[in-house]
Amino acid sequence: MDEASPQGLKSIDKQPYTLNMNPGVSVYGEALKKISGSEYRYWDPSRSKLAAYLRKKGKEFSYHENSSILYLGAASGTTVSHLSDLLVNGRVFAVEFSRIPFTKLLGLCETRKNIMPIQGDANDPDAYSFMVGQADILYEDVSQKNQVEIFIKNSIMLKKGGKGFLAVKARCIDVSRDPKKIFSDCAKELEASGFEIQDNRDLGPFEKDHAMIVVKKIV
Ligand SMILES: C[S@@+](CC[C@H](N)C(=O)[O-])C[C@H]1O[C@@H](n2cnc3c(N)ncnc32)[C@H](O)[C@@H]1O
Repeated sequence: MDEASPQGLKSIDKQPYTLNMNPGVSVYGEALKKISGSEYRYWDPSRSKLAAYLRKKGKEFSYHENSSILYLGAASGTTVSHLSDLLVNGRVFAVEFSRIPFTKLLGLCETRKNIMPIQGDANDPDAYSFMVGQADILYEDVSQKNQVEIFIKNSIMLKKGGKGFLAVKARCIDVSRDPKKIFSDCAKELEASGFEIQDNRDLGPFEKDHAMIVVKKIV
């Protein structure tokens, strides 16, 4: 986090916090902290790969108050809730295919109007692309063997010049290979599909055998 960090993101004792859009409410049991009359939510790096990316000194953080984000693998909305705090005038299209986390996500959406829940399979972007249009940011955290393929398919909804964040779980791709080699192969596949690699960062020890690959869409 640095001076280019979006409004609403704060570093307190070197830990990330976001300005709570819904004061008094903790979404997943995270600590709340009052600073100069404003309430901030602790963004837990062991619960959110984007918070882990920040803790690992990741600098590619293009989330701003007007951003529109297509988020694949929203689960019950842990990370989405922090993005919702940051995007006061923006929107998160949150795609999730499992019924139980999706039901919890719907509860979150009742108090946060900038989250658009979509129950769908990220393998089938045609089913929801008409709702999303063109997004500034594509974020994916789906724990599937074909993570990169899903990302590339969904990038039809990412604006040219837009940023993509792919949270890669090496063990889902191949349990027997060195995670570093898997991360590097994923980056090569993305490069070959018209993305420029901005960062490829191991998220350990917060998220073991995970990396965050950040790309820019150039074609
Ligand atoms: C690791 S969890 C996501 C955690 C979440 N991103 C967070 O930080 O709060 C992965 C989620 O992806 C969902 N998922 C897996 N494959 C999917 C697919 N093809 N389409 C949509 N969601 C999928 C799973 O149901 C699960 O909830």
